[in-house]
Amino acid sequence: MSAPTLLTAGITGLGMSFPEKRLTNADLEKMVETEDAWIVERTGIRERRIVARGVPASHHGALAAQAALAHAGLTAADVDLILVPTVTPDMMFPSTACVIQDLIGAKRAWGYDISAACSGFVFALQAARAQVQTGAVKTALVVGTEVMSSIVDWTDRNTCILFGDGAGAVVVQAVDPALGGIVDAVHYIDGSGGKHLHMKAGGSLNPASEETVRAGMHYIYQEGKEVYRFAVRGMADVALEIVQRNHLTPADIQLLVPHQANIRIMEAAQRRLGLPDEKVAVTIDRFGNTTSASIPSALKVAYDEGRVKKGDHVVLVSFGAGFTWGAALLRWCID
Ligand SMILES: CC(C)(COP(=O)(O)OP(=O)(O)OC[C@H]1O[C@@H](n2cnc3c(N)ncnc32)[C@H](O)[C@@H]1OP(=O)(O)O)[C@@H](O)C(=O)NCCC(=O)NCCS
Repeated sequence: MSAPTLLTAGITGLGMSFPEKRLTNADLEKMVETEDAWIVERTGIRERRIVARGVPASHHGALAAQAALAHAGLTAADVDLILVPTVTPDMMFPSTACVIQDLIGAKRAWGYDISAACSGFVFALQAARAQVQTGAVKTALVVGTEVMSSIVDWTDRNTCILFGDGAGAVVVQAVDPALGGIVDAVHYIDGSGGKHLHMKAGGSLNPASEETVRAGMHYIYQEGKEVYRFAVRGMADVALEIVQRNHLTPADIQLLVPHQANIRIMEAAQRRLGLPDEKVAVTIDRFGNTTSASIPSALKVAYDEGRVKKGDHVVLVSFGAGFTWGAALLRWCID
């Protein structure tokens, strides 16, 4: 029996949605002991978007999903699969994929959430790719959406300066292999890194109680220096790995879309690939770290700016809590 032929999956639509409200570094100076100059120099962030109180992750996720569908010339009725990478789901259950399915009216779709923190989008893209490659689904939506402001301790200057809210979405469908599509993907996890970046309570280990709330255990816990050290190495290594194993050189790459964690971490990946600034997508200055929303929204911004064209090689690269890290190589296949 011969092996089944796989289809080629590609991104055929892009969308994003961000809250209107900007939280600038000047605003943060009034909340914690910090300075605009420190934040810009150490992270590259100037402002981030924050939802109004009570707006859940599904809200901007659904808007980004609808925008991506419209861009692909599709409607919700065409969607077979909805994958939602997020660390700030509306609720522990049902999944935010279910909430978004209902909000956009994707009656035929099934789907689920993916927990891989800042690598969520890259991991979910691979899950969507595999479903499309086998022909199990025709149209998949990958919706990275976060309300990081709901898990940030606004009195902790080490973390509150970093994160922002928003959503980015892509449509994944079978494409003509001659045009390109998602060419390759690499993924890693190392659970021994979990101690450096996590949320202590709210799961089965430490169910929510008065005590956990009082102790601030529902906020992001991060050992910034440790995370920084692993992220610099992880992101740069995996970016180089995917380029090398596809026998490409830096000259063949037209766009690098790193997870927007910290400009210095992103620059390390850029340097390792030997890419000039104009080949790197940077939105961290305006949006901060939006976890699973950062790569699809940075890709969308670069696309809108005309920085990615049919036939271009695009590298997506991520690092996040877990630890999780990975990369995808795309050959851009839409106008
Ligand atoms: C958080 C991070 C920006 C801190 O930058 P850093 O250069 O490592 O800074 P340090 O932690 O060494 O802190 C240096 C000093 O600045 C202080 N500091 C921390 N936050 C500050 C702030 N917002 N404003 C001013 N000073 C601050 C620290 O308290 C420390 O002071 P000390 O030396 O008196 O103790 C950086 O470690 C980082 O980006 N880590 C990775 C985070 C990340 O990307 N997480 C998501 C993973 S996907």
